[in-house]
Amino acid sequence: MAEAVEIFEMGPRDGLQNEKRLIPAPDKIALVDLLSKAGFRRIEVTSFVSPKWVPQMADAPEVMAGINRARGVSYAALTPNMKGYEAARAARTDEVAIFASASEGFSRANLNTSIDDSLDRFRPVAEAAAHDGIPVRGYVSVVTDCPFDGPTPPASVARVAAALRDLGCYEISLGDTIGQGRPETIDAMLSAVLDELPASRLAGHYHDTGGRALSNIDASLARGLRVFDAAVGGLGGCPYAPGAKGNVATEKVAAHLADHGYETGLDADLIRNAASFARQLREASHV
Ligand code: HMG
Ligand code: MG
Repeated sequence: MAEAVEIFEMGPRDGLQNEKRLIPAPDKIALVDLLSKAGFRRIEVTSFVSPKWVPQMADAPEVMAGINRARGVSYAALTPNMKGYEAARAARTDEVAIFASASEGFSRANLNTSIDDSLDRFRPVAEAAAHDGIPVRGYVSVVTDCPFDGPTPPASVARVAAALRDLGCYEISLGDTIGQGRPETIDAMLSAVLDELPASRLAGHYHDTGGRALSNIDASLARGLRVFDAAVGGLGGCPYAPGAKGNVATEKVAAHLADHGYETGLDADLIRNAASFARQLREASHV
């Protein structure tokens, strides 16, 4: 039997957060509803962040309220602080994510605070979620390269990943935020992180700016990772990471994994439909 690899769908959140035109909530809901039928176990729907920082995600409560929840799918959202967490809980978010940076420069740009202060701010979120029985995922950004501070030392990634684990994150997603990672730098980073956490608790989150995301996924598979974040249509980018392009496209990763004998459980036709709908949303933004 083929070995399973999971793709965690990021399109509605990481994919759309950087679009300049405000995409109407019903379109976002339609995208999530298409994705819900495609076989994903986890879909990141939105972010409960400051609307001053990411205006595109200001409709998070409306989007969460409007989606048709499929049985067995966990609907996730980013929560940077207690205000976001409380809104996410009120919106019946199945799991939340806290997101830290491996570099000080990106931490300031994305969260307006240092790495250590961001971790302090996440503590009450993690505690409240544990109390409420809501799983928490953790992200580490700029795991190989930072647009502000240059190459990221693997030890910095391992330190932040361990801190997120200690806060109770069930899985840590390792973000090549600006898509500058190479198989060698991804491998060196994973070697350090694997001293802290087993591969079964790690995910690869690779943006495809440099066109190397699939090679970086291969390097990660070789290290034992079996969860990868991706966005249908290759949508995306981070508003606080200059040069960040889209997440690696879900359909590309699914086809690549199938070619290498892995089973994702995704329906290729439904993914194609969702990808073309996602691209229409983006094209409508760019006219
Ligand atoms: P701040 O300005 O220092 O926070 O931002 P503040 O506490 O001073 O609040 C400023 C205003 O925002 C206040 O409103 C707050 O009420 C409001 P005012 O009083 O001025 O009217 N506010 C909120 N409103 C709604 N929901 C909230 C919330 N929090 C504050 N949760 C803060 C600090 C963390 C809030 C801000 O920096 C922020 O929201 N950052 C998020 C940035 C973001 O979402 N970036 C993209 C996601 S991360 C990513 O893409 C990387 C990833 O994909 C992995 C990878 O690729 O590496 C995950
Ligand atoms: Mg990202």
